[in-house]
Amino acid sequence: MSVEPPKSSSSKPSTSSQSDLSVTVIGGGTMGNGIAHVFAQSGHPVTLVDVSKEACERAFATIEKNLGRMVTKEKLTEQQMQETLQRLSTSMSIQEGCQDAGLIVEAVPEVLQLKRDVYQDVEAVVEPNAVIATNTSSISITKLANTLKHPERFIGMHFFNPVPVMSLVEVVKGHQTDQAVVDAVMAWSQGLGKVPVPVNDSPGFVSNRVLMPMINEAIFSVYEGVATPEHVDEVMKRGMAHPMGPLRLADFIGLDVCLDILRVLYEGFQDPKYRPCPLLVKMVDAGTLGDKTGQGFYSYK
Ligand SMILES: NC(=O)c1ccc[n+]([C@@H]2O[C@H](COP(=O)([O-])OP(=O)(O)OC[C@H]3O[C@@H](n4cnc5c(N)ncnc54)[C@H](O)[C@@H]3O)[C@@H](O)[C@H]2O)c1
Repeated sequence: MSVEPPKSSSSKPSTSSQSDLSVTVIGGGTMGNGIAHVFAQSGHPVTLVDVSKEACERAFATIEKNLGRMVTKEKLTEQQMQETLQRLSTSMSIQEGCQDAGLIVEAVPEVLQLKRDVYQDVEAVVEPNAVIATNTSSISITKLANTLKHPERFIGMHFFNPVPVMSLVEVVKGHQTDQAVVDAVMAWSQGLGKVPVPVNDSPGFVSNRVLMPMINEAIFSVYEGVATPEHVDEVMKRGMAHPMGPLRLADFIGLDVCLDILRVLYEGFQDPKYRPCPLLVKMVDAGTLGDKTGQGFYSYK
């Protein structure tokens, strides 16, 4: 595979083959450790950057545990697991961790200013032809890019949780993203064994624009006394062949995350059809956020 560099950066080509691509993942939480895992498993040297030694160790231990599970299930050999771990290193410094990367994937929390601060540090040290991707689930790619010196090399690379299991990567082209960067990210995603789908930048992209109104309507059905959470989920599982009902899924995603994304849709489109259900707002205010707090539409205690 040969990839053209972004038009307005240096003439030095980007990567020439899949495994030549060095990847740096910034943020080693739920998504970041999964993203680092899949790149390392596919043969890429990966540096994982997080804020503290403890966070780096936690991310590494999670990857080790998840790889171990794959070995137990005979999806991976012990040798492949060891080789994958050898390709992984961690760092507490963006400056140190990004210098040689051809692709940087940012997976820090969903806070606009935090992400922009990270990009500023990244741009100060990366090669001119490096691609900078974000795993944001809802913030506009165009808006995130507007403080970058080179917005043409910035792109959305939206992985799904759990990353080693879910095959989709939503590849989001910002207003200024160069087509060569889209093509490169599509190819790199395929190299991971994923199925990349290109979309243009728009609130919620495609995934959350379609999913969140469905979850919101499921919550309205409970709020208006149409059916219980169990019955709403049963209808969608048995009638629509969904593997998981929308309310169970909302608990899994986190009700606070669902509310944040609905607000992005509501504000982004200025359309009342995205108005978050008052029951969702109330549950978030009460701190019943789903799996992570032990209580949401279902109890996990
Ligand atoms: N959790 C999901 O299901 C999901 C799915 C798709 C996309 N996303 C998106 O992925 C991104 C990350 O979400 P997450 O759920 O993995 O978050 P998380 O809170 O689990 O992990 C974030 C990590 O970033 C680290 N971090 C914070 N500031 C940092 C900095 N300045 N430099 C380096 N590391 C830093 C934290 O220590 C933490 O380890 C968000 O933008 C989110 O919207 C999440």
